[in-house]
Amino acid sequence: MARHIMHFTVPSCVEPVQQLHFLGGEIDAGDSHRFEAELMSPRLDARSERSANRAHPLRLHRARVSALTLHLADASATEACGASVASALRGGMIVTLQGDLGTGKTTLVRGLLRARGVTGAVKSPTYTLVEHYSVSSLYFYHFDFYRFINPNEWDSTGMSDYFRDDAVCIVEWPERVGDRLPAPDLALSLAYATGDGGRDVVAIAHTPNGERCVTALARGARLTG
Ligand SMILES: Nc1ncnc2c1ncn2[C@@H]1O[C@H](COP(=O)(O)OP(=O)(O)O)[C@@H](O)[C@H]1O
Ligand SMILES: [Mg+2]
Repeated sequence: MARHIMHFTVPSCVEPVQQLHFLGGEIDAGDSHRFEAELMSPRLDARSERSANRAHPLRLHRARVSALTLHLADASATEACGASVASALRGGMIVTLQGDLGTGKTTLVRGLLRARGVTGAVKSPTYTLVEHYSVSSLYFYHFDFYRFINPNEWDSTGMSDYFRDDAVCIVEWPERVGDRLPAPDLALSLAYATGDGGRDVVAIAHTPNGERCVTALARGARLTG
């Protein structure tokens, strides 16, 4: 089985109050076989935290986190990452995915949609701009703005109509539409990892709903301490 290492980190772009913090939440060990994890707390150094968690493993299982990085060793790990996020999505939420071509954005969305019950093809919307899915009473819109040359195209294509309370909007290349895009609940950034051909993803929550997504990502972790 591929080895996945989860590093909970504090990205430099996050305000101190939004850096990795733990609230009363629910993380259980559940389906945690896919990941290994290391955890850093703003209050404790990593060594003390690991040692504390060894003594009190349930502490981590109650943690809620607002930022983390994951190493994704292969495409199935990227899909699993998307599947973890899927469980926490609700209508009205926005998830953005940044990263160079080929870093796995569409793969992650595919895992997410599959986990929400989409059984048909999950195609990249690079040429169609948006792909639609409907599961129960919830709509999923998967955008890819790579081909936008000017953010003004957002206005002429009527994109804001998709951002509704009964829809989850998942956006690749959000930077191509600039500040026209409503603020995301969860921002994912993918990058090529050095060394093993895999990918790294940074997940940052910008709202309580986004925080639930990051918590769900952490739920996929096998907490090795
Ligand atoms: N963690 C990973 N390690 C190695 N290859 C990956 C990983 N995640 C995805 N891939 C592969 O990268 C390629 C590009 O993925 P894709 O999702 O189309 O990227 P993007 O949407 O960012 O352009 C696909 O062949 C996919 O299987
Ligand atoms: Mg793509």
